[in-house]
Amino acid sequence: MKNKRILIFDTTLRDGEQCPGASMNLREKLEVARQLARLNVDVIEAGFPVISDGDFASVQMIAKQIKGPIIAGLARCVAKDIDAAGAAVKPAGRRARIHVFLATSKIHREFKLGKAQDEILRLAVEGVKRAKSYVDDVEFSPEDGSRTEPEFLVQVCKAAIEAGATTLNIPDTVGWAVPEQYAALIRRLYDEVPQFQWGKAIISVHCHDDLGLAVANSLAAVKAGARQVECTVNGIGERAGNAALEEIVMAIKTRRDFFGGVHCGVNTREIVKSSRLVSRMCGLIVQRSKAIVGENAFAHASGIHQDGILKKRETYEIMNPREVGWGQTDLPLTKHSGRAAVAARLKHLGFKMTDADVAAIFARFKEIGDKKKFVYDDDLTALVEGHITEVPETWTLDYLSVSSGSQTVPTATVRLKRFIGNKAPSEVLQDAGIGDGPVDATLKAIDRLTKTRGKLMDYSLRAVSQGKDALGEVTVKADFGQGELVTGKGASTDVIEASARAYLNAVNRFLCSNSAKGKKQPQP
Ligand code: KIV
Ligand code: ZN
Repeated sequence: MKNKRILIFDTTLRDGEQCPGASMNLREKLEVARQLARLNVDVIEAGFPVISDGDFASVQMIAKQIKGPIIAGLARCVAKDIDAAGAAVKPAGRRARIHVFLATSKIHREFKLGKAQDEILRLAVEGVKRAKSYVDDVEFSPEDGSRTEPEFLVQVCKAAIEAGATTLNIPDTVGWAVPEQYAALIRRLYDEVPQFQWGKAIISVHCHDDLGLAVANSLAAVKAGARQVECTVNGIGERAGNAALEEIVMAIKTRRDFFGGVHCGVNTREIVKSSRLVSRMCGLIVQRSKAIVGENAFAHASGIHQDGILKKRETYEIMNPREVGWGQTDLPLTKHSGRAAVAARLKHLGFKMTDADVAAIFARFKEIGDKKKFVYDDDLTALVEGHITEVPETWTLDYLSVSSGSQTVPTATVRLKRFIGNKAPSEVLQDAGIGDGPVDATLKAIDRLTKTRGKLMDYSLRAVSQGKDALGEVTVKADFGQGELVTGKGASTDVIEASARAYLNAVNRFLCSNSAKGKKQPQP
């Protein structure tokens, strides 16, 4: 096949965000989208605009602000979905794409949709045509494609292309496929749909990881002729996740010999940064041994390996860690660094900050700088992330004192300020709590003050940078009784304070989403 270019379609902000507890606010999504643009992906699937006003607004904002990649919005083959997607991606102009999908497999047709094959064909064609009335670039996905009868899939692809689709995505929606079989399906589609051979449309793949085969299936499909791969940073996504972008990109690059010289345009040096940003924004920790982006991915423990590496790196390293963005540390800042230095470093790290943002981050930087000798880029990034995950109408931590020990009942005294909008604090409240440990006591005191009752479903703590004085970053997932986990993040050199900040961040998010839904705020 002449076309050797593989398009990387990133769906972190759509399928990735469907991962339980991974939801991001508008500001967080914008930061991720900015980083995806620096990573130089070809397409950013920014969301599913019809789902909610928030989803619509974030797709529209990304379409307006992010330059470079194509911006896609997802839609079912339903008029109101397509109209919403068309309006949301419009600001991207010629880089706007609508991605329409409709299930085609027998099980989905019979049990989910109650529709026969000819009805599915008709709806797919109508959906593509409607999307085409908004944008030139239309992608169609026969959902559960891998479990669809191949002869029907051929018919669907032909019909969708004739209606105007230029990308035909074949999802392995439930992660059922295995590489050889999935590759055979892709090859069959390529052979039996002449428009693929003429270059009138390309085949895309979208694999889920239920059997741990998402990346293997995607790569087998590339070998068989697919020219777009849909994936997410860190492989986050619905259930077991999607194919991991970093693994797809580095496999194609590292094993170009095997994949017949195909290539993609991703700037691999941005991979680690993207992974960290997504991990923090979603509150999903990357396992240490994760390929490419895990802390241990390039750590060589055995003496034999270390010796080999020293003699010739390639003896035990198939990729250069620098190639994916490891080890790019700049000189750390210190408490003596001024506001201009902090602003310059933020810019260098790629954050687009207003003067007010810089002022808020600089204030936190000063607090941290007093406690810690060096403030590293990762520390600063954690402060930025803490800042942009803040939500309006915020409780903020003013004072925290904790006493605990093997012979003491853990007790926490907490003072909070309550802000309404951007005004000065409307009140300052203080209370104390006892608990099973210092974190429990602190969270109980916060619950009493804010009149919320959050059940802690997940708690994780990681050191942001090196050294004993490293910032501890806490991520919590709390259930406030609304059936949806709320994520909160906080960082401090003191892990109890980081826990309090993370929990308050979750409380604020919960209150903010309640007020967006018009619910009454609990009154202290
Ligand atoms: O997994 C899937 O089938 C999807 C489609 C919407 C492409 O995410
Ligand atoms: Zn999916």
